[in-house]
Amino acid sequence: MRRRSLLAMGAAGGAAAVLGTGASALASPAAAGLAVRPSANPGTSPTSLRALAAKIGLRFGTALIPQDIETPAWAAIAASQFSVVTPGNGMKWQIVEPTQGVYDWSQADQLVAFARANGQLVRGHTLLWHNQLPTWLTTGVANGTITNAQLKQLLHNHIQVEVSRYRGRIWQWDVANEFFLDANPSGIDPNNFWISHLGPDIIPQAFRWAHAADPGALLFYNDYNITGEDGTNAKSDAVYAWLKQMLSEGVPIMGVGSQGHLDTQYGFSPQLFQQDLERYASLGLKVAITEADVRTFVNNATDQVPTDHLAVFAQPYEFSGMLKAALAVPQVISFTIWGFTDADSWVPGTFAGEGYATIYDVNQQPKPAYYELQADLELGAFGAPRRVPTPMP
Ligand code: G3I
Repeated sequence: MRRRSLLAMGAAGGAAAVLGTGASALASPAAAGLAVRPSANPGTSPTSLRALAAKIGLRFGTALIPQDIETPAWAAIAASQFSVVTPGNGMKWQIVEPTQGVYDWSQADQLVAFARANGQLVRGHTLLWHNQLPTWLTTGVANGTITNAQLKQLLHNHIQVEVSRYRGRIWQWDVANEFFLDANPSGIDPNNFWISHLGPDIIPQAFRWAHAADPGALLFYNDYNITGEDGTNAKSDAVYAWLKQMLSEGVPIMGVGSQGHLDTQYGFSPQLFQQDLERYASLGLKVAITEADVRTFVNNATDQVPTDHLAVFAQPYEFSGMLKAALAVPQVISFTIWGFTDADSWVPGTFAGEGYATIYDVNQQPKPAYYELQADLELGAFGAPRRVPTPMP
């Protein structure tokens, strides 16, 4: 059963104002339970992450899933600490079109309404990815009832419908996500679902379709291990070369998102991280840290207490290394954490034995990483360069 936002109760009258007109076949925003009552004075604490980041024009963000918005104490943190939000899952194709032609915008609408109520921008995530595709689509392709030509048309429709629905509401769109190989040398993965069926030209095509649907949105390529995390920097080299090529062909790519999923068991070089951010910026692109978290080994998935006593130092150190590098590069316009609390982080469910990846513990208390980032932002406010200006939705 679909959960309804607790915050949405009694505020349906404001729904029409939240969204513009989308494709006429779509469910109305009011029917989707869209409106959210503005919370009291969000983000007014001068020491909140969002307020400190604002001093240099940086947006500080988090991914949100419905539970974060529907649990009042969690929503209070989400509203007060962050100035840009990303749906953890709610805008992915599997979620928005679970049955062909039948749309479910409830999660996406809920997030967009929450952002509006709390003075936050939105990062749309993600339009072209091999993961979290609807079963009807992958099954149809596998059994041949969906041809490659039809697949391309379905993708065009998906991008056109979703981007149009939120036109003017999205600051940054992650148009294409995770196409490059974890290998040395790297390159676009020929076995990627989209590449194997439609070829590599589908990526620039997706950017063109998204740009046509919302010319004001900043369009991003988003990936992990593209800022030196692989050690060799091979993946960054490949993404950099590809971006340069795409830009020379006039493809409307405006930014690159470095996800920033770190793990304390591997090496991390803040210097290389910064160098790669600078290299992307040198192409004339905006840059965003889009999914930062730092995982480590823990006692169990419920309590998430690190098993190595040094991890409680390494975890905030790596978070801080990413943020300081970002602060040094004015083209980095946002720094987003992939969920603010260990209580609903994706990490324990994906990496057996690991957790403690965010900046709030399982009881929503700020961890050392929170205070480290807060201190970095306080210092940054006195010395870091102001962010470059961007178009705003
Ligand atoms: O919704 C179903 C639920 O009905 C079912 O009972 C449950 C049983 O496992 O699964 C639920 O779906 C899960 C979904 O998240 C929603 O919670 C999927 O199993 C789970 O695989 C899925 O994980 C998401 C993951 O992407 C999928 O690859 C994570 O929440 C999400 O945080 C994560 O986000 C990605 C970014 O989009 C791209 N970059 C990497 C990042 C982390 O993997």
